[in-house]
Amino acid sequence: MIPGKPRAAVMSLSVAIFGTLMLQSVSSQNEPSISVSESVTITSDMDSILLQCNLTSSYGNPKDSYWMKNGEEISATRTQNKNTEHRLDRPRGDSAGLYMCVYNFEMAPPANATIEIKSSPIITGHKRSENKNEGDRAVLYCKSVGYPHPVWTWYKIDPTGIRDIDNSTGRFSVVSRENYTELHISNLDINLDPGEYMCNATNIIGGHNEKLVLRVRSLLAPLWPLLGVLAEIIILVIIIVVYEKRKKPEDLQDGESPGKTNSTNNHKDKNLRQRNTN
Ligand SMILES: *[C@@H]1O[C@H](CO)[C@@H](O)[C@H](O)[C@H]1NC(C)=O
Ligand SMILES: *[C@@H]1O[C@H](CO)[C@@H](O)[C@H](O)[C@H]1NC(C)=O
Ligand SMILES: *[C@@H]1O[C@H](CO)[C@@H](O)[C@H](O)[C@H]1NC(C)=O
Ligand SMILES: *[C@@H]1O[C@H](CO)[C@@H](O)[C@H](O)[C@H]1NC(C)=O
Ligand SMILES: *[C@@H]1O[C@H](CO)[C@@H](O)[C@H](O)[C@H]1NC(C)=O
Repeated sequence: MIPGKPRAAVMSLSVAIFGTLMLQSVSSQNEPSISVSESVTITSDMDSILLQCNLTSSYGNPKDSYWMKNGEEISATRTQNKNTEHRLDRPRGDSAGLYMCVYNFEMAPPANATIEIKSSPIITGHKRSENKNEGDRAVLYCKSVGYPHPVWTWYKIDPTGIRDIDNSTGRFSVVSRENYTELHISNLDINLDPGEYMCNATNIIGGHNEKLVLRVRSLLAPLWPLLGVLAEIIILVIIIVVYEKRKKPEDLQDGESPGKTNSTNNHKDKNLRQRNTN
C-alpha cells in the first residue's frame, strides 16, 4: 500500500528523469560530434604526426572547417570536407601545442574539438651573460617551446652546487609567462650576486635547463682609467718640477766652469778630425 502523496512524488520524479533523458538525447542528436585522433607526445625519432578530425554527426554539411594552434588559425587549412587532416612534418618542440579543428555551419553555431601534441620543454633562448655595475638592476631571461607550458624555477650555482635563490634581502623577483621567464635582481651587490644562475623549465613530459652568468663591476671601475691618467699627469709634473729645480744650479755651474765646455769642444774636434781623414 503506497499512500497517495509519496506515489505522486515517485511519479513526478520519474517524469523528471524521463524528461531529462529525452532532453539529453534530443540535444545529443542536434549537437555535432567530432571524432579526433589521439593526443601525441613528440619524440626525436618521429617523421610526422597526422592530426585528424571527422565530423560524425551534425545538422548538415559544414560551411567550412579550419585548424588552430594555441588559439591562432593555421593558414591554408580551410576545407569544406567533413573529414579534415593536418600533418606535422618532422615535429620538434615548437610543433607542440594545443591544436583545434573548428567547423562552421550555415545555420548553427561553430563546433570544435582539441588535440594535445605534447613535448618536453626546450629552452630556445636565454641571456648567456649580463654585465652590470653594482647598485644596478639585472634582468636574466629564458624562453622555451614545448607543451604543456612549463613550470619555471631559478637557481644559483655555487661552488657547493645548485641551490635555491636566497631572497633574504628581498632583491629578487621572478616574472614567468607560459613560454618565458625573467629573474630580476635589484640593487646589485658585488659580493653576493655575481656568478652562475640556472633557469629550469619542467612539464609533465620532462625538463630542460640553461646556465647564465652575471658579472657585477665595482662602481669605481669606470673611474680607474681616469685615475690612471690623473696619476700620470701628477708624476709628469713632479718629474718636470724636480728636473727644473736641479737644472738651474747646474746651468750656473756650467757657465762658470770652462772645463766642461772644453771637453765638448774636444769631442767636436775629434769628430772633425775623423771626418777629415775619411
Ligand atoms: C576519419 O575518417 C577516416 C576515413 O574514413 C579514417 O581513416 C580515420 O581513421 C578517421 N579518423 C578518426 C580520428 O576518426
Ligand atoms: C570551442 O567550443 C567551445 C564550446 O563548444 C566554445 O566555448 C569555444 O569558444 C570554441 N572555441 C573556438 C575557438 O571556436
Ligand atoms: C623576494 O622578496 C621580495 C620582497 O619580500 C618579494 O617581493 C619577491 O616576490 C621575492 N622574490 C621571490 C623570487 O620570491
Ligand atoms: C610565447 O607565447 C606567445 C603566445 O602564446 C607567442 O606569441 C610567442 O611567440 C611565444 N614566444 C616564444 C618564444 O615561443
Ligand atoms: C628542474 O626542475 C625539476 C622539477 O623541479 C627537477 O626535477 C629537475 O631535477 C631540475 N633540473 C635541474 C638540473 O635542477
